Amino acid sequence: PRVAVVFGGRSSEHPISVVTAGSVLRALDREKYEVLPIGITTDGRWALTADEPSRMAITDGRLPAVEEIAESSEGQVALPVSPVSRDVVLSEPGSVPKALGEVDVVLPLLHGPWGEDGTLQGMLELSGVPYVGSGVLSSAVGMDKEYTKRVLESFGLPVGPYTVVRPREWATEEGRAAARARIAELGYPVFVKPTRAGSSIGITKVKDPADLDRAIAEAQRHDPKVIVEKGLTGRELECGVLEFEDGPRASLPAEVLVSEEFDFYDFEAKYIDSNEVRIPAELTEDETRRLREVAVEVFEALSCEGLARVDVFLLEDGGYVVNEINTMPGFTPISAFPRMWEATGVSYPELVSRLIDTALH
Ligand code: DAL
Ligand code: MG
Repeated sequence: PRVAVVFGGRSSEHPISVVTAGSVLRALDREKYEVLPIGITTDGRWALTADEPSRMAITDGRLPAVEEIAESSEGQVALPVSPVSRDVVLSEPGSVPKALGEVDVVLPLLHGPWGEDGTLQGMLELSGVPYVGSGVLSSAVGMDKEYTKRVLESFGLPVGPYTVVRPREWATEEGRAAARARIAELGYPVFVKPTRAGSSIGITKVKDPADLDRAIAEAQRHDPKVIVEKGLTGRELECGVLEFEDGPRASLPAEVLVSEEFDFYDFEAKYIDSNEVRIPAELTEDETRRLREVAVEVFEALSCEGLARVDVFLLEDGGYVVNEINTMPGFTPISAFPRMWEATGVSYPELVSRLIDTALH
């Protein structure tokens, strides 16, 4: 089969996607698949790239600094090496590609808006091309931290206390006062997050109400709609979910161990300092079983397909809350998703072929 591997994209998670693509391209079985690598620049141009994983130069374990990512999220191409600069351009900025070519399946290795949020999935549905992962609705719900929680709540799945600050509310004095009161009711510390973003970009942990406005302004740089979540004390766990012939199964869980120098699991802790995740998590058999069940319940509640990573807090009292779901989790060599599957007995190359084969059938 001919597989189009689409990566990069317009979101602030562009660099993570490029690193993900570098390792997936290396792992794809070339005897089995004909590979068509397609990069999307930060300004939305689609380009056919040379099929040399080594040319994904910014991969090799190096990630751009946080500031470079913040800049690229403002629409500037700020990456040290553009992986698509010398290649065949398939579209103008912001327009869809004129031709994907004849492909059997698309592997949309994109994180964040315009890739993981149902927009690309909608384009592929219209074009009638099979693709890996969740469909339009699941992708859109999974990208939006507000609607993820609303849907999970409606299925009786526990989520933590939160409130949403909509742009029209924050635009007026009265609205801001109302929002601040709701946030105070949650109790500080709180996490202020862009509703639709990923990789901890735009997130601030706020301990003092005096810092709230700045945190909201920062989150709004990424999404006009902001979600404020109560800071919870507990263990941060995650589980990979993968669709098999007989339905979704969850991997062994991982635990995120944030060292003291980091205030929370921010971008730097996530990608620069990679020794932060223990796989498998040290849990009792019961806890592990329950967590894997919950991960599958979340996957099913959102009608996900193919794959997802479900992030859960195990609270001090033994209860849990679902934090979020990622319908296209990071696939970098240091990412938890492939490592959790490795620990569960599914190697990285097997994982990639399974995803493609599921989408083809
Ligand atoms: N949003 C990043 C890529 C993740 O969840 O792994
Ligand atoms: Mg995320």
